[in-house]
Parts: sequence; C-alpha cells; structure tokens
Amino acid sequence: MTRRPAALPQDPPRRLFVRTWGCQMNVYDSSRMQDLLRPLGFRPAESPEAADMVILNTCHIREKASEKLFSELGRLRAIKAQREAAGGKFMIAVAGCVAQAEGEEILARAPFVDLVTGPQSYHRLPEMVARVARAGGAAIETDFAAEEKFDRLAEAGGAQGITAFLTVQEGCDKFCTFCVVPYTRGAEISRPMAAVLAEARALVEAGAREITLIGQNVNAWHGAGPDGKPATLAALIRAVAEIPGSLRVRYTTSHPLEMDAALIAAHAEEPKLMPWLHLPVQSGSDRTLRAMNRRHTAADYLRIVGALRAARPDIGLSTDFIVGFPGETDADFQATLDLVRAVGFAAAFSFKYSARPGTPAAGLPGQVPDDVADARLAALQALLSCQQRDFNAAMLGRTVPVLWTGPGRHPGQVAGRTPWLQPVHMTAPPGLIGQQTMVRIRAVLPNSLAAEPTEGDHFSEPHAA
Ligand code: 5AD
Ligand code: SF4
Repeated sequence: MTRRPAALPQDPPRRLFVRTWGCQMNVYDSSRMQDLLRPLGFRPAESPEAADMVILNTCHIREKASEKLFSELGRLRAIKAQREAAGGKFMIAVAGCVAQAEGEEILARAPFVDLVTGPQSYHRLPEMVARVARAGGAAIETDFAAEEKFDRLAEAGGAQGITAFLTVQEGCDKFCTFCVVPYTRGAEISRPMAAVLAEARALVEAGAREITLIGQNVNAWHGAGPDGKPATLAALIRAVAEIPGSLRVRYTTSHPLEMDAALIAAHAEEPKLMPWLHLPVQSGSDRTLRAMNRRHTAADYLRIVGALRAARPDIGLSTDFIVGFPGETDADFQATLDLVRAVGFAAAFSFKYSARPGTPAAGLPGQVPDDVADARLAALQALLSCQQRDFNAAMLGRTVPVLWTGPGRHPGQVAGRTPWLQPVHMTAPPGLIGQQTMVRIRAVLPNSLAAEPTEGDHFSEPHAA
C-alpha cells in the first residue's frame, strides 16, 4: 500500500493524549494503550495541544461516530500543521471500532493520520509507532487476532484506583440485527482464568478494592478452572472474590441467554459479588425481539429476573432499550412499557434505533419515522426515570455499605459508591478512602446520596492509645 511521505520524526514523541468514546472496554483499552507505550517513553499529556501523539479511541455503536471523529481530526490536523511548521512532530492515531470498520476510508479522507488500529491489534502499537517514526508513511492494522491480543496485553498491568476494570472476554457471536459489535470486535473469545487472576492480583496489590470483570458478552466467559475442568463466569467471579484484599466484584455486560444457574447462584452465595446486574433486554415485544435476533422472549427475561430476585432479593437491575426498531408498532412499544412496569428497573439506558451500515436491520422495511421514535423514547425515559427515582428514594434512612473511592467535591468530604452504584458523599477524613464502611443515608439528592456515620462510628484519625 503506498502512502504519502511523512515528515515524521526519527525518535518517537514523548507525550501522549488519549481521547476515549464509548463503552467501558474502550476506557480499559485506552489505559492499556498508555501502558503499552510507556516503555517507549510516552507519558500522559493533559490535552492534545500539550501532546506529541494523540490517540482517538472511537466507538461505532450508534450514529455520528465518524462525524465526531472527522471533526476531531480537523482540530488535530491544525495542531499538527502548526507543530510541523515549527519543526516539531505530532503523531495522530485512530483506534477503536470506527478504525476497525472504516480504516481505509479514514486514511483516504484524512491522509494526515499516521496510524489506524482496530481493537484486536493494540498489542502491535509500539511496533507501529516505531515503524511510522522510522520509515514515515502510515500504518494500518485491522486484523482479528484477539487471542494474541490477550496474550500480549497480559504482560501489562498496573494501578487504576480503588475501582478497576478488567477485560475477561471480548467479542460477540450473538449477531443482534441492529448491532455492529460482532463485526468490529470479532468472535467471542475468553481470556484464560490464570491470566485474569494474575491481573486481578496485580490490581489489588496496586490498591484496587472493587474489580469489574468486563466483556461485550461477559457471561459467555468460559475457560478451564484450576482443576482443569470447564469453568464458567461464576467460577471466575468466586476466584476473584477469594483474592485477599478484594472487597467487591462486578461484571458487565451480560446477555440473557447466558444467565446460567451457576451465575444466579453466585448472586445468592458470594457476598463480595455486588447485588447489581446490567442485563440488556432491548424490547418487551416478542415480535421485535425476534426481528432483532435476540433469541429470548419477554417471558424468558422475566423468568431470569424472578430467579435473580429469588437468589438475591435486593438486587438492582439495569438494562438497555432500543425504540423505533424497524417495524415496531404502537402495540410493540406498549409491550416494552409493560415489561418495564413488570420488572421495575433501578437504572436504564435507552436509545433511538440508529441504522448501522452493514447490519441486517439497516435494510429492513418499516423504518420508524423520527418523530414517532422521539415520542416513544420520551415516554420510555419518563417511566424509567420515575423508577430510578423511586429506587434511589428507597435508600433514605437505610444503613448500607459504601466503598470510599476518593475525596468528595467539597473540602472535608469523601465520596464513594453503594453496592447499587449510587454515588455517596459524607463528611469524613480521607483515611477512609479505600475502605468499605456501613453508613446511614441521611438525604437523597437528585444525583447522589448524602451519608452519615452509623451510631458509634466517629471516623477519627488514628491516634496512639
Ligand atoms: N441503534 C441504537 N442503539 C443501539 N445499541 C446497539 N446498537 C444500536 C443501534 N444500532 C444499543 C443497545 C446496546 C447498547 C450498548 O447500545 O441497546 O445494548
Ligand atoms: Fe451487540 Fe447483541 Fe452482541 Fe450485545 S449481544 S454486543 S447487542 S450483537
């Protein structure tokens, strides 16, 4: 492939700015890219202007991904021109799912981009950066070799804070008809248990107290247990929970088809597993679910919810919805509202259907007019907001465990999260950060909860007896 000659440096630049769009996995990947480039001398920069290299880690799941990317690239192009006019250097990389889906187009439309890499090729970044710096021209890597990615990324590791994310699974074989993930992230692949546990131990040693296992279909994770026998996510969760020093375990995102009995039982039996589940349903209409190729019905979903609540009565449920899927009628939409009323969600994300090029649903007849979809989205969100408000309001006066993760917004405060991910703040010394304590919720505010120590707890600084 011929590329334009580039005025690129012989030595790699040294300050790196990463901009991340999209899901938690992109956030995780961004930090791993920073880890990977650290040995080349890259340190984090506060802004693109202060950087020698910028990585745009993109998301392709809904509309306007490439518009956002190209408008950001326009800004970076100006910085690059200025830098080069002054005899300096500036490297631009595009990563993530837009890079995977539209790599060649990106280089054609924005020839000043130096490097394009899909999510399965991040482990090759150092080599790509060196190659571009040495030889000039642009580099593109959009192969699917996720196993290799996992092998290579396993070498990295490091501090993320009190709450940490850990990729255990990547990719998706479900092929919901609206979704680009199976095309941009490739087939489902699980990271071996030993590699996950090694990284989890490193995270706990670096101060993590809560670990969220992440994957596009995290509950499809499978591997060999320590005894060599086949293991599923429940076993992995229990093994992470056994790491001394870990206080909480979570996992996201799950598919209803893979909510097996062992995973539901783990919610009953493993105290470190938080009573919270993000379980996307997308619609409450069986007709729409079939057209989406979800491979479950509304009744299947309700059955799973029933089993989870039997296992862990205080479990909070979160979900995703799409409204305005092609062919969705008023009756289909009413079925969605019925499902919401039947479940009672603690939180939810809802989106207007957006036709993604290359997905089967993009070509379906019966595309729903924008104003109809807008009205449905507004009605759904009103109902979901109501449920979320009720869920939070029910915390008033309760005594709950909070993991303190950092300083609060105001001096003298600490901030943390309940098991249900609600942000909490309290007047207390910073020594509490990294601990989990029982506190009483004294006020429910619009976006957070205010807490006070329970009787007998004064959170005084430690002093000699
Ligand atoms: N249009 C709208 N929403 C979508 N999602 C995925 N693809 C689309 C699409 N084409 C939503 C789904 C998924 C969440 C991550 O994004 O609800 O669960
Ligand atoms: Fe996309 Fe469906 Fe796979 Fe989720 S399960 S990533 S919505 S194809």
